[in-house]
Amino acid sequence: MIRLGKVVAIDGPSGAGKSTLAKSLAAALGFEYLDTGALYRAAALALRARGVTPEDDDGRIASALNGVSIDFREGRVYLDGRDVSEEIRTKEAGHYSSVFSARKPVRDFLLPLQREFSSANGKNRNLVVEGRDMTTVVFPGAWKKFYLDASLRERARRRYEQMAAMGKHISMEDAMEDVALRDSRDSSREIAPLKKGEDAFYLDTTDLSASQVLRKMVEVIKGCGPEKKNEK
Ligand code: DC
Repeated sequence: MIRLGKVVAIDGPSGAGKSTLAKSLAAALGFEYLDTGALYRAAALALRARGVTPEDDDGRIASALNGVSIDFREGRVYLDGRDVSEEIRTKEAGHYSSVFSARKPVRDFLLPLQREFSSANGKNRNLVVEGRDMTTVVFPGAWKKFYLDASLRERARRRYEQMAAMGKHISMEDAMEDVALRDSRDSSREIAPLKKGEDAFYLDTTDLSASQVLRKMVEVIKGCGPEKKNEK
């Protein structure tokens, strides 16, 4: 039986600040950190490398994933033992991860992997996890749950700056379009769509710095933050 440690689960759309916050919150709490988007991105790379296209049926996707190994260690993601942490950040990998993440064999493949991450060698691990269905599907019994959000414009601006920092220049219009498309795909799919869990704490990060958001999250975890669970 898998025994869970304390899990802080964070969901939200692209660009809401989940990765930055999950990392700094994990450091502040002394917990491990898991970026589940990185797992979906690695699965998309594996599928593309095996010649799978979004038009293929579920049977083809399931057999292509058979024997694939995806691992996340110390902030890096490994596909069949190879570090793909940079490769998964391309626009193409982002696109295919969003498309393939709607498919049942992909979600079935990654679900146990994510849960097993919270118990290393049978021991509980305290964990900060972030993604789209952490609070609703993967860790519904999480110790603390958050939904991070921000306006579309602000999330596009963050995407633009993130790409620029990697030396990739896109226009603000492209960034807006990309983020809006991902929003609609991630929240309209049939299986495990992005939505705010009823018991998740809603936090709008549009006008907040990362350190302000971190402070609020720590306050909520310590039980001295404002009660805003069902605001959205
Ligand atoms: O967080 P990200 O942009 O790296 O995630 C890439 C894609 O993976 C995203 O468009 C939706 C999908 N995803 C998902 O469906 N469920 C998760 N828990 C995490 C990511």
